[in-house]
Amino acid sequence: MSKHVGILTAGGDSPGLNAAIRAVAKDLRAADIKLLGFKDGYDGIAFDRTMVLNGKACSGILTRGGTILHSSRNKPDKMPFHGKLTDMTETIVRNYHKHHLQCLICIGGGGTHKSALKLKKKGLNIITLPKTIDNDLAMTDTTIGFDTAVATATQAIDNLHSTASSHRRIMLVEIMGHRAGWLTLASGIAGGADVILIPEIPYKLEKIAEAINKRNHHGKRFSIIAIAEGCQFSGFISSPPAEEPCKEFSSASHEHSGRTLALAKDLAALTGLDARVTILGHLQRGGSPSSADRLLAAMLGVECIKCILKKKFGVMISVRGQELVPIPLKKVAGRLKVVPLDHIWIQTARQLGVSFGD
Ligand code: F6P
Repeated sequence: MSKHVGILTAGGDSPGLNAAIRAVAKDLRAADIKLLGFKDGYDGIAFDRTMVLNGKACSGILTRGGTILHSSRNKPDKMPFHGKLTDMTETIVRNYHKHHLQCLICIGGGGTHKSALKLKKKGLNIITLPKTIDNDLAMTDTTIGFDTAVATATQAIDNLHSTASSHRRIMLVEIMGHRAGWLTLASGIAGGADVILIPEIPYKLEKIAEAINKRNHHGKRFSIIAIAEGCQFSGFISSPPAEEPCKEFSSASHEHSGRTLALAKDLAALTGLDARVTILGHLQRGGSPSSADRLLAAMLGVECIKCILKKKFGVMISVRGQELVPIPLKKVAGRLKVVPLDHIWIQTARQLGVSFGD
């Protein structure tokens, strides 16, 4: 059996990727297997951009945000090449064999898993690790980067509280998550937001205004609204910018912000209060990983090597309660994990008087 394994990180980066690369590299070295890094997501294996991940390359990366392998959102079958999108799948298969890989580890979120399944169907041995700050990947309780992003967004909400109170304002804080509200919900509860708006629960403008007016009535001088970037449009007074796609969800976060700005304007008009918007954007993807994310990345990395040694391929290592379980890629790819409406976080928030604008 060949003594080589490849690894790549694809999709939007998240804190903890380097911790995962380090864990994989260390455990493989113990098994006397060489690890070859492919740079810039799937581009690396398509265009043969490699990096040897020896002890020196992986030294000191545990605490670093980002990914030493870099990342991209390009897909194997739609790779920009000579100015047009090209299907590079066969080249990827050739490069896999050229490097005598026994397995390719792909660390990523939804898009990465769809591509991974296609490569598996081409006969490659693939194992994936779940990563996204959005935590919206199916069949896993959590993903690398989510815990750190929750802490970052919570800290931002904490900081907004004092200034909101000083100025008697409505503060809207836009949090990443274009299809699922996990990050907004978790940080909204942890940060004590008064209103939490998530894509899973379409909001009504008047319901939000009602919640703010009620707080005012009780002498609360300010309100904090945590809003997920992918929240569903349900009737503005002010028009969002013309180019703003209200019904489509794109993955580019800046395209969502028009809606948050329009919502702020409408709420100011309806409540008579000043409203301000903070868009956390890519701040949420940066920074050193939390201890929980480092621990998760280490465990996933080690479990991945166990699967390689057992020749268990075509799986994502998922977190199920206290266990790590290999799940067939076909059960993960193309499926989204949204917040169930009866989830305990939603129940908890409602019990605490949080409005979801519904
Ligand atoms: O990785 C997922 C995500 O963080 C989304 O929440 C966000 O909409 C998107 O990435 C932003 O991606 P990009 O960095 O490509 O603009």
